[in-house]
Amino acid sequence: MRIPKRLRAALGVAGVGAIAACLATVLASSATAGTTLGGSAAEKGRYFGAAVGTGKFGDNTYMTVLNREFNSLVAENEMKWDHTEPQQGRFNFTNGDRIVSHARSRGMSVRGHALLWHAQQPGWAQGLSGSALRNAAINHVTQVAAHFRGQIHSWDVVNEAFADGGSGGRRDSNLQRTGNDWIEAAFRAARAADPGAKLCYNDYNTDGINAKSTGIYNMVRDFKSRGVPIDCVGLQSHLGTTIDSSYQANIQRFADLGVDVQITELDVMQGSNQANIYATVTRACLAVSRCTGITVWGVRDCDSWRGSDNALLFDCSGNKKAAYNSVLNALNSGGTPITTAPTTRPPTTPPVTTPPPGGAGCAATVTVNQWTGGFVASVRVTAGSSAINGWRVALTLPSGTTVTNAWSANRSGNTGAIQFTNVDYNGRVGAGQSTEFGFQANGTGTGLAPTCTAT
Ligand code: G3I
Repeated sequence: MRIPKRLRAALGVAGVGAIAACLATVLASSATAGTTLGGSAAEKGRYFGAAVGTGKFGDNTYMTVLNREFNSLVAENEMKWDHTEPQQGRFNFTNGDRIVSHARSRGMSVRGHALLWHAQQPGWAQGLSGSALRNAAINHVTQVAAHFRGQIHSWDVVNEAFADGGSGGRRDSNLQRTGNDWIEAAFRAARAADPGAKLCYNDYNTDGINAKSTGIYNMVRDFKSRGVPIDCVGLQSHLGTTIDSSYQANIQRFADLGVDVQITELDVMQGSNQANIYATVTRACLAVSRCTGITVWGVRDCDSWRGSDNALLFDCSGNKKAAYNSVLNALNSGGTPITTAPTTRPPTTPPVTTPPPGGAGCAATVTVNQWTGGFVASVRVTAGSSAINGWRVALTLPSGTTVTNAWSANRSGNTGAIQFTNVDYNGRVGAGQSTEFGFQANGTGTGLAPTCTAT
């Protein structure tokens, strides 16, 4: 397979020829520390993830490698706009939910990719412009981020909005033509919809200090100075046969702005230098305390968008390549501890607490994030002195309030007295432990008083 045109451009311009909530997710058990990518990264307070597609979930070799090696997943395609909102206002989260469900069942975290991007837009969005497109885009960000609320450690809120070449400016696109403030509007909408997720700007050809990465650096500095909610920068790192000597310095300069850095789509052209480049990237991330994790863009060479570049860590039979060993060795030696600060969240209404159960049973608390005309409610279910195997939460909505969607729970009713019950992966809650679900609604979320019953 030929290298795609855009990748060739990416490799040329870069001269490539040159992890949430206050921590990277530490998920692997000590049994795998030092012997798997996820386990070794977790030992350093970081994640090591892979891009996946549900079309391969039936492939045993693929799933064996995936489940053994990685502690974070991202949807290669299935959370993009064309997949999640194929018709305007009609959302399809089936495959995205499958990826989240698989990750959660294995104790892996999930990156979200990508809320807004000029590519892979559904046909209906490609045909919009002006305020119709801006409104549709912000609604998309709100609905998707709200659906996955509490389940995504970091979202690529905006993907690839800067131009290649030396301008350091924005790429022309239908989204850019709605006004230069479209990126910050997207970040504000994402924060309102999922206050717990780290919000990232993600791009390629930014794998060193160059005009494009400097344009992004200036945007991040401006956002931080004006309070636009940005938490992280994703450096995709689709690399060729060399790596820019300023790769680590570039990570460090973003970190010095007060954002996390994540290596989000790493793959490296096969060749004599592949293992070295993978190790260099890994060491650079480990050397910067705010570089919280690495994601490779696929599992095996034959899963990769780069075809015959054989750019990944496993061959098509699932065998570990030399590049795998170099990454694992780098993960197992050295590194700077993670020191990321918690993300500043917008004010939310104080939690309304129901009395904790005196003995067994469960209690529910709710936190409401209200905006004009709607809100997202996050409900925490806590088991009492004994583990529970299922739960039901009842609450009564104020008059005029209607639930539009819910996540991590089954729902009956959408107005007045409604009930939520556990889904398959979150029914069992250990003694004193908690799980969370959420819902989005039109109207006002004042005075919610959920009650919990163990089932
Ligand atoms: O699933 C359909 C299949 O049914 C159909 O027969 C076939 C015909 O072309 O297309 C298949 O869909 C393809 C899909 O990948 C799954 O393989 C799409 O055409 C193809 O466009 C899509 O490519 C994806 C590409 O983004 C789209 O721009 C790649 O898989 C994905 O790896 C790539 O990922 C991007 C990141 O999102 C952003 N950064 C760059 C990175 C690489 O381009």
